[in-house]
This record gives sequence, structure tokens and C-alpha cells, in this order.
Amino acid sequence: MNRVKGKRILVTGASSGIGEGCAKLFASGGADLVLVARREGRLRRLKETLEREHGIDVRVFQLDVRDRDAVEDFGRTLEREIVAPDVLVNNAGLASGMGKFFEGDFDDWDRMIDTNVKGLLNVSRYVVPLMVKQNRGHIVNIGSIAGHIVYPGGNVYNATKYAVRALNQAMSLDLVGTNIRVSCIDPGATQTEFSVVRFHGDEEKAEDVYRGFKPLTGDDIAEAIYFVVNAPEHVNVLNLVIMPTAQRSPFVLHREED
Ligand SMILES: NC(=O)c1ccc[n+]([C@@H]2O[C@H](COP(=O)([O-])OP(=O)(O)OC[C@H]3O[C@@H](n4cnc5c(N)ncnc54)[C@H](OP(=O)(O)O)[C@@H]3O)[C@@H](O)[C@H]2O)c1
Repeated sequence: MNRVKGKRILVTGASSGIGEGCAKLFASGGADLVLVARREGRLRRLKETLEREHGIDVRVFQLDVRDRDAVEDFGRTLEREIVAPDVLVNNAGLASGMGKFFEGDFDDWDRMIDTNVKGLLNVSRYVVPLMVKQNRGHIVNIGSIAGHIVYPGGNVYNATKYAVRALNQAMSLDLVGTNIRVSCIDPGATQTEFSVVRFHGDEEKAEDVYRGFKPLTGDDIAEAIYFVVNAPEHVNVLNLVIMPTAQRSPFVLHREED
């Protein structure tokens, strides 16, 4: 059964990977979209394709979720020009670096904490009140298995994803008594631009992360998000942990030898 048709889905970080996968899948289900990221050119191209192919309405916003004033303006624009989104997918996020914490780069730390934690909060702070006003909606936070188990070199990224899991539970508790659902999707190894960003553009190092096994794709995670959103209104999935079949934990990953 299709319960997403005609709904308005807001996806942060829609210019690539999991967010782009969500935009495409929800568009194919007949949902209207609000797409957010910093790379506006990519969003515009996605909008053109999805509107042409699916006859839906797609709004795009160039937005850095770290910029609280800009997020406030975005929230005001949403309230003024568009109805409150039915679904907010808090997906924008990144890892930056993978060194030991005592040699950590402060810019990397700020980038991760400001995007993954404060950015998610900024967007939620200005979008969720619109849902509360209408007493309906669904927040889908993108966490990670990095929010369940700490791995070597993960330090600050792990801390941000533990924070996302805590905030997911907090949002769920704070919204008790409303019709607003709250879910956290926690992917394992997913091949997107994630590792290229983590290794500051080193494509070879990024490629090596996925050597010898079949990783998840952004589209695989989008399917899980679609499932959670498409469930009947009285069904709330609090948390989903998804890994490639070859991966059983951040530490246990079967690679075929070359
Ligand atoms: N790939 C994995 O293995 C994996 C596993 C677990 C969890 N995750 C999580 O999944 C989410 C999506 O990552 P992905 O794998 O799809 O990586 P990706 O391909 O690098 O996509 C990240 C998206 O976030 C956006 N973004 C980053 N910083 C932003 C900012 N300050 N403001 C607005 N948008 C911003 C990027 O767009 P712009 O650069 O255009 O702004 C991009 O669209 C992240 O939260 C990540 O932590 C990924």
C-alpha cells in the first residue's frame, strides 16, 4: 500500500548518497519534496529530473545546516510558502578524518559536531514546531552503527552519532501525546561520497573501504526509510540497524581475497 503519495517529504543532504536515494524513491511513490544541501546545482538537476519523470512538486534550498540564521529563514519560508512537511529526514552529515583523538584536527571536530549534532538540532528546532502545530508528522534521523559501537579512529564521529541516537530517543519522548512519529535509521558500510569526504578527497583510500565485499548503497537505505515512513500512522519504528550481509559489526567484516 502506498501511503506516501501526495505527502511532502523534506530531506537534508539530498545532493548525494542516502539523501539523493530518498529523493528518488519518494518521488517514485508520488510524494512532493523539499530538498536541502549546500550544492545547489546538484539539487536543481535532481529537481528537473524528478519533476519531469514523476509529475511531482520539488522545492530546493541551498542551505548549510550549520548556519542557524539561515536555517531560521528557511523555517520561516517553509511556514509562509509551503505547508508543513509531513516527513523530515535529518540526513545531512559527515565524517571528517579518522585519526587518533590526541592528534585530532579541530576543524574536523567542528565540522562533524556542527553538522551532525547542531545542524540536526537547528533544522529540527525550526521545522518540528510546524508539525506540532498540525499535530502530525514524522522525523527520521539518520544515525549510524557508529552510534552503537566505537571503533578505532572513530572518536568524534562516533560521539556525534551516539548523540543522534540519544536525540532520537529524546525527540520521541518529548513528542509523546502527539501524532508525530520519530525514527532513527542506523546504517553500516554504505558506499556513497561518505568515505571520500571522510578522507578529504582521497578517492583511493575511500575505495579501499569497500574492497572485497558488497556494501550497501544509498538506495538500499532509502528503501528502509521508505518502509518506516510508509508504515500505518499508528506504527512507529524507533530504531533500525542495517548492515551489508558481509558486515556483522564495525569490527567484523568478511572480505573476499583478491
Ligand atoms: N555512508 C555510510 O557508510 C554511512 C553509514 C552510517 C551513517 N551514514 C550517515 O548517512 C548520512 C548521509 O551520508 P551519505 O553516506 O549519504 O554521504 P554523502 O554521499 O557524503 O552525503 C552527505 C550529504 O550531506 C550533505 N551535507 C553535508 N554537510 C552539510 C551541511 N553543512 N549542510 C547541508 N548539507 C550538508 C551533503 O550535501 P552538500 O555537500 O551538497 O551540502 C550530502 O548531500 C550522514 O548523516 C552519515 O553520517 C553514512
